[in-house]
Amino acid sequence: MTSSDRTIVVTGGTSGLGYECAKNLALDPRNTVVITGRDATRTQNLAAEIGAHGMALDLSSRPSVGAFVDELVAADLPPLFGLVCNAGVQFTRRTRTVDGLEATFATNHLGHLGLILDLLDHFTAPARVVMVSSGTHDPDQFTGMPHPLHATARELAYPPPTESAQRDARRRYTTSKLANLQTAYHLARELAPRDIMVNAFDPGLMPGTGLARDASSFQQLAWKTIARALVVLPGVRTPRGSGADLAWLVATPEREGITGQYLVRRTPVRSSVASYDEPAQQALYRDSVELLAELDARASR
Ligand SMILES: NC(=O)c1ccc[n+]([C@@H]2O[C@H](COP(=O)([O-])OP(=O)(O)OC[C@H]3O[C@@H](n4cnc5c(N)ncnc54)[C@H](OP(=O)(O)O)[C@@H]3O)[C@@H](O)[C@H]2O)c1
Repeated sequence: MTSSDRTIVVTGGTSGLGYECAKNLALDPRNTVVITGRDATRTQNLAAEIGAHGMALDLSSRPSVGAFVDELVAADLPPLFGLVCNAGVQFTRRTRTVDGLEATFATNHLGHLGLILDLLDHFTAPARVVMVSSGTHDPDQFTGMPHPLHATARELAYPPPTESAQRDARRRYTTSKLANLQTAYHLARELAPRDIMVNAFDPGLMPGTGLARDASSFQQLAWKTIARALVVLPGVRTPRGSGADLAWLVATPEREGITGQYLVRRTPVRSSVASYDEPAQQALYRDSVELLAELDARASR
């Protein structure tokens, strides 16, 4: 890794899409790759297998995000060029973080937004951020998932118990993936003057990854076996195939200076109608920043 001239961080690089993306990036000697996972030792061991660095990061915890940023900066790696916001969770029942926030929104959206903002002054421009979203954010795509909720960030962070627990949990996932897109489009505009490009990616349905870890044993078996046979269908991908596309998106010189796009494979596509609503993007961003400040204030007490 001595000849490398830039660092690329992949959140959730211990499994599925993130692991395949990091493995692909680490093949290029120009890249120093950092993968993150919640367990430091496990993450370091997995990183060593692919020639990357491994660091602990729990996106559902603001102190953990702060500790990760401190560790990354102290590691004195080559200039920070890329951040792949890939880590993601999907629950089958209502789940809260230690701070009492709805865990899907807190991890997939708030955790990544806080991480980006904490890293802003550490990027060396030109730099890139990629948000991993999902086609399930789009009600017009008939993915079988519940449509995203449209509510304020505060309502999403602290939801009332109004729906059936299971449907609610899956809806929280599609809502968080819409939030990833709204954040990508908002930050693309905000960060363009700093030469930080922000794009979003849909990896397609990738049966067999760890995303179903919270499901019943029967559902997990189906996800790992029957569902894998579906890879012949359009829109169904392998983590390896989508990982290569994601690595390309964050690293290729072909994407220099391009921001604010949503890609499937290597092709820009339209996302849902709702994702382009600029006032909604701005409101989500403003309220999320406020929530992050509250969490930081609580942690420092
Ligand atoms: N699988 C699909 O069909 C599919 C479809 C569309 C989009 N996606 C998106 O693709 C991304 C990757 O999903 P995947 O299918 O590869 O899932 P996965 O195999 O479960 O990988 C998820 C990664 O996130 C990390 N993670 C989980 N909770 C975390 C937390 N609280 N803080 C920090 N990291 C955490 C996990 O690491 P540790 O457990 O080591 O912490 C793991 O490395 C997600 O954003 C997902 O929404 C997946």
